[in-house]
Amino acid sequence: MKRLRLLIVGAVGAVAGVVLLLLSGVLNFAASSGHWDVTDLFFDLAARQSVTLRSVGIDVPDLDDPRMIRRGAGHYEMVCAACHGSPGRPPEAFAANLTPRPPLLLEQMQRWRPAERTFFTVKHGIKRTAMPAWPTQLRDDEVWEMVAFLEAMPSLTTDDYRALAGDRRIANCTNCHGDDGRGRGNAFPRLDIQSSLYLAGALRAFRDGHRASGTMISAASGLTDAQIVELSAVLGQGTVVEPEGAEHGRAIAAGEVAGLPACDSCHGPSARPDFPRLAGQQRDFLIRQLELFTTLQEQRGGVHAEIMSTAVHRLTPEQKESVADWYGD
Ligand code: HEC
Ligand code: HEC
Ligand code: HEC
Repeated sequence: MKRLRLLIVGAVGAVAGVVLLLLSGVLNFAASSGHWDVTDLFFDLAARQSVTLRSVGIDVPDLDDPRMIRRGAGHYEMVCAACHGSPGRPPEAFAANLTPRPPLLLEQMQRWRPAERTFFTVKHGIKRTAMPAWPTQLRDDEVWEMVAFLEAMPSLTTDDYRALAGDRRIANCTNCHGDDGRGRGNAFPRLDIQSSLYLAGALRAFRDGHRASGTMISAASGLTDAQIVELSAVLGQGTVVEPEGAEHGRAIAAGEVAGLPACDSCHGPSARPDFPRLAGQQRDFLIRQLELFTTLQEQRGGVHAEIMSTAVHRLTPEQKESVADWYGD
């Protein structure tokens, strides 16, 4: 009995001690103070175990597609390189003053690490550190593109990297969409085929976080309404492209397939100017958008996402391929 009472008093005392320590303000949370080695060890181990546990069972897709790597590279240069550095360029000066300091990923990725762990870290970020989560949790395809790029990074020379990723200090939008707005090596969507009205609506949706793309939410954050109008006027040229391709895709576009609406009525050359054009668009991008409209439905976001997700909820995967072949490049 006596021993039990001693044990309880001891336990209560220990808890009270920890609470007092926390309340006392003695622990230093200033980033400039660094971490004690044991705190480092503790958090490192805890974070590593947590990621390892939670990434079990994640399926890794094929990561070798060069266009995936190119898209990941563009995002890396825009968001990540400032903290983690890139081939041939160290991190920005502020990164050295973060605690914990962001690791040089070029070196980190030279050691083997399971792709699903990298995926988990990039998607969810790391609590209580500067490492941010992906800006939207609604889709994984963009996160896998980043993993594909990170795995390829150690094999890139400085020149390879610049050719892939561009340079955020020189260009912003054209770095990914190309000087002519035609999407650099067909990896990014073409903007020149759209009206400035459509582009402005899309940019506001990204800026306000209403359309699911981590890459574009990052690229558009902080744009003012005036900048959006200005950019859209320059980029949206209304270039008309004649679609060509297999008969089946043409029939879907023209509304000749029972049960499906005519895509052309909303996307053809004489459709509403604030609706997007599809002819000449990057084929990959079309398929991905169709998938987003069927899996996320109106959560995919955009000014008129509801109209579109109602229109295509019955499209089969084969029909998506055919219609993307018809319109796409
Ligand atoms: C504001 C600075 C900052 C930005 C921006 C940032 N990170 Fe990080 N990142 C960190 C920090 C700090 C850590 C280390 C956290 C720790 O020690 O637990 C980290 C850790 C990581 C790790 C884990 C490294 C390892 O070996 O476990 C990966 C992978 C990573 N970041 C990828 C990215 C990617 C990809 C981006 C861009 C989408 C990005 N980071 C943007 C600060 C940043
Ligand atoms: C890091 C690469 C990158 C940068 C920089 C970038 N974009 Fe994008 N942009 C993309 C990707 C990738 C998509 C496709 C998003 C998706 O999959 O939903 C996209 C989509 C868009 C769309 C939607 C196109 C459509 O048909 O719906 C617009 C509009 C756009 N970008 C404009 C811009 C503007 C303007 C800038 C500069 C402020 C910019 N982008 C900077 C990669 C980028
Ligand atoms: C009733 C009108 C309507 C019909 C019919 C329709 N769509 Fe759409 N679609 C839209 C609207 C509106 C958007 C823009 C959504 C937004 O605000 O982001 C859109 C967006 C898209 C996008 C994304 C384009 C981009 O640049 O981001 C694709 C791809 C698309 N539609 C394909 C199709 C296909 C293929 C069909 C035919 C099977 C079709 N749509 C039928 C109205 C329609």
